[in-house]
Amino acid sequence: MEALGKLKQFDAYPKTLEDFRVKTCGGATVTIVSGLLMLLLFLSELQYYLTTEVHPELYVDKSRGDKLKINIDVLFPHMPCAYLSIDAMDVAGEQQLDVEHNLFKQRLDKDGIPVSSEAERHELGKVEVTVFDPDSLDPDRCESCYGAEAEDIKCCNTCEDVREAYRRRGWAFKNPDTIEQCRREGFSQKMQEQKNEGCQVYGFLEVNKVAGNFHFAPGKSFQQSHVHGDLSGPLLPINMTHYIQHLSFGEDYPGIVNPLDHTNVTAPQASMMFQYFVKVVPTVYMKVDGEVLRTNQFSVTRHEKVANGLLGDQGLPGVFVLYELSPMMVKLTEKHRSFTHFLTGVCLVGGEGADAVAGLIDSLIYHSARAIQKKIDLGKTT
Ligand SMILES: *[C@@H]1O[C@H](CO)[C@@H](O)[C@H](O)[C@H]1NC(C)=O
Ligand SMILES: *[C@@H]1O[C@H](CO)[C@@H](O)[C@H](O)[C@H]1NC(C)=O
Repeated sequence: MEALGKLKQFDAYPKTLEDFRVKTCGGATVTIVSGLLMLLLFLSELQYYLTTEVHPELYVDKSRGDKLKINIDVLFPHMPCAYLSIDAMDVAGEQQLDVEHNLFKQRLDKDGIPVSSEAERHELGKVEVTVFDPDSLDPDRCESCYGAEAEDIKCCNTCEDVREAYRRRGWAFKNPDTIEQCRREGFSQKMQEQKNEGCQVYGFLEVNKVAGNFHFAPGKSFQQSHVHGDLSGPLLPINMTHYIQHLSFGEDYPGIVNPLDHTNVTAPQASMMFQYFVKVVPTVYMKVDGEVLRTNQFSVTRHEKVANGLLGDQGLPGVFVLYELSPMMVKLTEKHRSFTHFLTGVCLVGGEGADAVAGLIDSLIYHSARAIQKKIDLGKTT
């Protein structure tokens, strides 16, 4: 009994007798408000706990021999698809070999609406036929009829001549693309046809994980005719205005920022050269469920100048993306938030924090109300 009495001394929560407690309306209001507040705080604490946090770490990138996947979606409102060539180069300026790619060119009309429902698959660095200028050919030439020569048709100088020779022989004229005469005429016709169009280039390139560049530029033949001042025929000023819908170097992870997405760049002059200097930062993203995503982030700076191909001028018109790999790798690890922190937070909310403040407010209201009441009573007696 004695020991029990001694133990009572340690009670940090001495109870007051119920009789001495006064319940007030103010107190009830404060209780309800503070209860709601506590609920709110608890819910926000819970919500915070249920989100994941991302923990970044920095390493020297030792992985080698991987591939770099470049996702591209760029619109050229004033570059017809027939003019545009796409190429990938390595750091030394040689054409990259063994590039896995899947690029498509979609013709767009003046208002940016796709001309056809089908996009054309683009061959990387395709060798182009030169622009056909009938006057540049030797008027006395005699070109082959591909075995369909006859008595009166010894030379086939135009696509129509070949077609006629074939007809006389009774041969089917199936594949005009294999006939040189038709190809050059078809090409200039194609250019003429697409004169006022734009082009959307989309798809991906998979290159070796070394520095390099890829570019969108008017084809060589197109440039040459410009250099020679021949702006007649199908050729127009080169307007390299472009809209980058999407450009990334790998898969997207939650929270990635691709700095070039949705950028519009207007070329104020003809034959502009746009250079994008890209630093690719290899990034590993470890999801909370154990999934590992190997991808890349990048930073970019842009440089532009006029490259009209005149003597002594460096550079060619086009959009060039020059990329370089950072030696540092970022590892982002998704983690659950600590449960003990959550518990601490909840205890703070439910215990000391809100309760103490509510108690304080309540006693403030109670005591000031009593003080005012006293004053009023005092006023009444005098
Ligand atoms: C950029 O241009 C495209 C079409 O060319 C348009 O849809 C988009 O709204 C433009 N974006 C900005 C930010 O001007
Ligand atoms: C290229 O086209 C844009 C409109 O999309 C225009 O603002 C710009 O002046 C043109 N540039 C040239 C050199 O024609």
